[in-house]
Amino acid sequence: MRKALNRLIDELHRLKEQGYEGVEVSARAFAQLKEAVEHQLAQAGPSIAPIPASSATVVDPAPSPTAVNREPPAQTHPVRSTFAQPEPRPVPAREPSAADHRPPPPATQSSNLPAPPVFEIPAGSKTEQLAWLKDRVLSCPVCTSHLRPGKQLVFGEGSPDAAIFFCGEAPGADEETQGIPFVGEAGKLLTRIIQAMGLSRETIYIGNIMKWRPETGSDYGNRPPTLEEMAFCMPYLEAQLEIIRPQVIVGLGATALNGLLGYDPERRITSVRGQWFQHGSIPVMATFHPSYVNRNGTNRIKRMIWEDMLAVMERVGIPISPKQQAYFT
Ligand code: URA
Repeated sequence: MRKALNRLIDELHRLKEQGYEGVEVSARAFAQLKEAVEHQLAQAGPSIAPIPASSATVVDPAPSPTAVNREPPAQTHPVRSTFAQPEPRPVPAREPSAADHRPPPPATQSSNLPAPPVFEIPAGSKTEQLAWLKDRVLSCPVCTSHLRPGKQLVFGEGSPDAAIFFCGEAPGADEETQGIPFVGEAGKLLTRIIQAMGLSRETIYIGNIMKWRPETGSDYGNRPPTLEEMAFCMPYLEAQLEIIRPQVIVGLGATALNGLLGYDPERRITSVRGQWFQHGSIPVMATFHPSYVNRNGTNRIKRMIWEDMLAVMERVGIPISPKQQAYFT
């Protein structure tokens, strides 16, 4: 039960990281959650904080202007967690709680990584250069030191001549098992999106900011990489972009954008999605991470990510059929 609660806390933090500004839970689920926490408190002493009235308050069912999911399921009493409020920074010292096993926000965490790697890409064809880079990444002692037994680094895959580079955050459990980016639930959706664009995984490129899965100590859940972790891996992504030279990067979610555009704690994916940014000379389309869409599968959100893909198709000159134009309208 405690593990499940910790996973729930992790998940809420991850959702926040991805741009959610609130979550809705049914009154029944809320009551069950409260009961579970109270039970844990009784069993485990005060190390788990009770759900305070100020952190989860039953509110009127009217959707807030900032709520992402504007379609509350029938029969629910939306509950908004306090992560809708701006957090004070720097993070103040506080009593340890059950949430302490998760890392502090990226800006405050230090993991003692060495300086990011510096290297030169040898001359050769794009295919040869990517093969060289892959070897270098897969044998990077810092990257490999972050692997659990039997798990793999995830370099990226796709066409060396790709016009579109989809950039995610970091491998998850499925990806570190297979050594391939976006093969889990989020990956299945990304693959469907790519296919709906009339493309295939072989004709585009898929990579991540991180080449290893940020450690969570288990197969469950994911955590966003720290700034230091991202900084260490960025030269590898830069080299991939340098070799492939895509026409466009699709930045999938807030963490990918932090890596590509620079860390900005104020940037909200819900505000910036659909906008063009620049990474060096390459245009970056900001859009939702597919896992956000999986969790918040309203037609409104699907249409938004699809509109972002239509903008990408237009920018790289992919013809858009009337059928494609009308998806999710
Ligand atoms: N999420 C990501 O950001 N990247 C992956 O490769 C898989 C899931």
